Amino acid sequence: MSCQDRGLLYGDGLFETLLVVDGAPRRWRQHMQRLKEGCSRLGIGGVEEAKLRADAEALCTNKARAVLKIVITRGAGGRGYRPSAQSDPTRIVQIHPYPEYSSQYWSRGVKVRVCQHRLGANPALAGIKHLNRLEQVLARSEWDEPDVAEGLMLDSGENVVEGTMTNVFVVKNKRLYTPDLTSCGVKGIVRDGVIDIAENLGVSSAETELSLDDVRQADEIFLTNSLIGIWPVMQLERCTYGPGLITQQVAEKLAPWNNGWIS
Ligand SMILES: Cc1ncc(COP(=O)(O)O)c(C=O)c1O
Repeated sequence: MSCQDRGLLYGDGLFETLLVVDGAPRRWRQHMQRLKEGCSRLGIGGVEEAKLRADAEALCTNKARAVLKIVITRGAGGRGYRPSAQSDPTRIVQIHPYPEYSSQYWSRGVKVRVCQHRLGANPALAGIKHLNRLEQVLARSEWDEPDVAEGLMLDSGENVVEGTMTNVFVVKNKRLYTPDLTSCGVKGIVRDGVIDIAENLGVSSAETELSLDDVRQADEIFLTNSLIGIWPVMQLERCTYGPGLITQQVAEKLAPWNNGWIS
């Protein structure tokens, strides 16, 4: 990759992180859909899915469980922010070991903290998985206790948006709520999946503003992303939560989608 690459110089690009199980990347179609949506929002053209697929297949062969990372940048450009009219994107496809998470994160749940760093409002970038992740880097540097699995991030209006690497759901009075992401945050692929699953289960769900108190006072809290599927939250600062029925029902429905990893 060129040291003039705009992905390196400006974070001018997008990425996807996919779960690999039994030699195959999971939810390929959904990841490609979000990547294409990101490319169209940023005006990055010329990304060829067939080439990404070929790279991915070569890297995933014989991998029982792994992480596939796809990065697309606008490519190399001269000095200055203005993007060139011609698009010659850079494609990076990497394979990584699956992280060593305790199995209790799924069975008992995780401990979560609240981050000090506040997410800025940026509707033009909200939802897509762009490469500018300094807010998450700052938030994730706030703690190093190994037993705290995730940190919740709030916006400047003190509403909860997401975790540093996950989306957040809460259950209150048998209804499911997740933060509205029109101003900031990543629209997770598992988040979309959970909303569909809830509908099939007959559980009403809403994308809405959620204050920290709304989250603290929830009956159940859970976190989602492509690598973990669902982690129930068992502790948020000093509040504790038992195993939740709706969390369990949603996780069970997600399990086949995740090739049995989450049970
Ligand atoms: C900041 C952030 N929010 C949400 C998510 C969840 O996204 P997905 O379900 O597509 O993995 C991620 C995933 O890495 C993330 O980094």
